[in-house]
Amino acid sequence: MNTTMTIPKTVRVGSLSISPPLILAPMAEYTHSAFRRLLSEQGGYGALFTEMLSGTALHSENLLTSPYTKRGKDEGPVLYQLQISGQENLEAIFSKLKTVQPDGIDINLGCPAPDIKKRKSGTALFDDFERLRKTLHTCRELWSGPLTIKCRLGDGKLGWEERFTRRLALFEECKIDAITLHPRFSDEKLKRNARWNIFPWVVSQTGIPLIANGDIRSQRDVQKLLPDSGCKAVMIGRMAIMKPWIFKEICGESFCADYHQTWNKFCRYTIEDFGEEKALRKIKKFTLFFSQNFFFDHHFFTLINTASDLKTVLERAETFLQSNPKRSLF
Ligand SMILES: Cc1cc2nc3c(=O)[nH]c(=O)nc-3n(C[C@H](O)[C@H](O)[C@H](O)COP(=O)(O)O)c2cc1C
Repeated sequence: MNTTMTIPKTVRVGSLSISPPLILAPMAEYTHSAFRRLLSEQGGYGALFTEMLSGTALHSENLLTSPYTKRGKDEGPVLYQLQISGQENLEAIFSKLKTVQPDGIDINLGCPAPDIKKRKSGTALFDDFERLRKTLHTCRELWSGPLTIKCRLGDGKLGWEERFTRRLALFEECKIDAITLHPRFSDEKLKRNARWNIFPWVVSQTGIPLIANGDIRSQRDVQKLLPDSGCKAVMIGRMAIMKPWIFKEICGESFCADYHQTWNKFCRYTIEDFGEEKALRKIKKFTLFFSQNFFFDHHFFTLINTASDLKTVLERAETFLQSNPKRSLF
């Protein structure tokens, strides 16, 4: 049973007020315009992140029409996450990004995926202190609006704490407005539990507002985490794909989740924004998480994942969802 939430109402990130302090995480292939539109109809959040955007790829995109960067009028604050190495033409990247008037710009320092590391971004940029310093200073010079970073804890090898605090000091030096911390080490992917017990230590080491991320699943988690940790906001990823209404659930709003309608809307918005061919892949990806709402999640996921075309996906989903499938206990 959800109750009214007793957490701070707002977090300030530079000139931006995020209220409530509940934020959608950046997720590649997921937090595109169609999903953000679906969330904006549900509400309950204070800000949304785009997925990580390759700085180099931005050059050739029309940011006002691309589903990765365009935004709807009801989305509220949208922060754009950049995947950069620092060796690109940052001036060109920032001036292009400014055309969509971001509410904030975030630098990805936490992605451990091999292809991102190969491009010297994500955790590879976090690890290379001098390149990180130069890159963040340049970003700060080029962008006076809210500038944030998202990171993990580092490599976890002997002395990681000292290396981490050195970076916290660098973030202060570069006037970073907020830090999102996903407290896992670089090579852990999404294994083990996120180390929430580390948040109070990190808060004690920096004056920059800390946004907690990792395995946050419910109102109870938020109510425990925010006061206990000293973090100023929470960021939610996978649970928001599974339950796009998670933020209003956390706020204690009373509502009845409509699984069938949510699915239909997601498909419609994705087809509108990506076209039928590309939508098929996005819908299959979404189903990986959304199917976990159902007791026979594997059955629904397999039905959708093995369909060879969009028409079959939509027909199979309609039959499954009309059968009033038993829900999981999540
Ligand atoms: C499918 C997927 C894609 C992700 N893409 C990004 C990304 O583009 N940028 C980023 O900083 N983190 C990315 N992440 C990490 C999430 O933002 C988040 O840190 C992680 O999922 C832990 O939060 P959660 O437990 O609430 O899902 C991704 C995670 C997943 C599962």
